[in-house]
Amino acid sequence: MLSEIMFQALNEQFTKERQNEAIYRSNSDALKNIAWDGFAAFCAKQADGEAQHARLFANYLIDAGYAPVYSALDAVLDVAHTPLGVFSMLLTLEHQTTSQIKTLYYLAESQEDPQTCVFLHPLLIEQVEEEKLLADAVTELTRATDNASLLLLDARYGS
Ligand SMILES: [Fe+2]
Ligand SMILES: [Fe+2]
Repeated sequence: MLSEIMFQALNEQFTKERQNEAIYRSNSDALKNIAWDGFAAFCAKQADGEAQHARLFANYLIDAGYAPVYSALDAVLDVAHTPLGVFSMLLTLEHQTTSQIKTLYYLAESQEDPQTCVFLHPLLIEQVEEEKLLADAVTELTRATDNASLLLLDARYGS
């Protein structure tokens, strides 16, 4: 049985994953608007991933006997205007998400809730991959100092 405190914390992460989807989606739109279609496609794919994470939390809550609460999301206002700006911001977002899920994990341990720990395992491992993906993007974009290199990268990220 999921404790009320665990339900509240998992529901908060459900909201944060929905917020992450909105952040990736708006950055994808902003990049598409300035014709970086490849980087935009990458962000759109990540947005789909965030929507899946939100669904995982919703389904877990439902299985545990709770109806997920759909809280209001924040407006997405700080959209960057260069690929490097966008990916640097998204790397920071992934670092934050990792620490949020770690905090949830420690809470589940303190609540003596091994099922929730196991539920969180794959999400924690996926965060390692997501951070690597974004960190590599920042490295590659920092390296690409001319338009020709950026266009090549954009094509690769879109493929
Ligand atoms: Fe996520
Ligand atoms: Fe993510």
